[in-house]
Amino acid sequence: MTSETRPVEQQSDHYDRFAEAYARENENGLFNRWYARPAVVDLLGEVTGRHILDAACGSGPLVAELQDLGASVAGFDASPAMIRLARERLGDGADLKVADLTRPLPYADVLFDDALAVLVLHYLEDWSGPLAELHRVLKPGGRLIVVVNHPVIPPVMYPEVDYFATVPNQEEYDFDGVSATLTIWYRSLSAMSESFTAAGFRISTISEPPVSADTPPELLPPSRTDPTRFLGFIFFALEAIS
Ligand SMILES: C[S@@+](CC[C@H](N)C(=O)[O-])C[C@H]1O[C@@H](n2cnc3c(N)ncnc32)[C@H](O)[C@@H]1O
Repeated sequence: MTSETRPVEQQSDHYDRFAEAYARENENGLFNRWYARPAVVDLLGEVTGRHILDAACGSGPLVAELQDLGASVAGFDASPAMIRLARERLGDGADLKVADLTRPLPYADVLFDDALAVLVLHYLEDWSGPLAELHRVLKPGGRLIVVVNHPVIPPVMYPEVDYFATVPNQEEYDFDGVSATLTIWYRSLSAMSESFTAAGFRISTISEPPVSADTPPELLPPSRTDPTRFLGFIFFALEAIS
């Protein structure tokens, strides 16, 4: 069995191995606190009273932020260690589960107004099952916010990579001093779009936003242009249409 076909909890890049270090990095780091989370909150707009599912919620920073904005939020993650950290943050009453996005999800049909898949789909080769499950749990017209690594980065960083092929690559990360090797699946923008359409979603917005206006300047990367904008992630707001 390859690492790609093994159940997620048996894979060497499972987040249990570095859950606490990742959660620390995520809490205040440029890419999560000052870039991904503000952009997701912006895309969602007013969330008071909305029922939202955070798929692969990690240690629950977005669950907490959206709850503070008046939403009722459920979260799940494949990593028990991440869910333990989320429970420490959100309390025992929080709606948190250990669940795998590549398998049937433990939620009823048409339960949620919105769903989030933030920085998780790029770990998966096949998006059809996960997107079908997220579509199933959304109300008609419900929104799915997807954030993944920007598809033009691999061909720029690795000229030998075929932009049009969906291929895995092992990438090295440093999470608050702990190193981790993660398998990232590269795929083209059109492959992403085709997966969304096949699962019954329509793309409402594609966003490549700047970092939050209150980002500490010392966190910004050196740049010959505007340092608040860089190719990091791509953000999609999708609508469940069929
Ligand atoms: C980069 S972290 C992002 C966490 C959170 N969405 C955020 O933005 O703060 C990726 C998360 O996806 C989870 N994950 C990876 N594969 C998963 C799967 N198949 N099902 C559910 N969660 C998964 C990991 O355990 C980890 O918590």
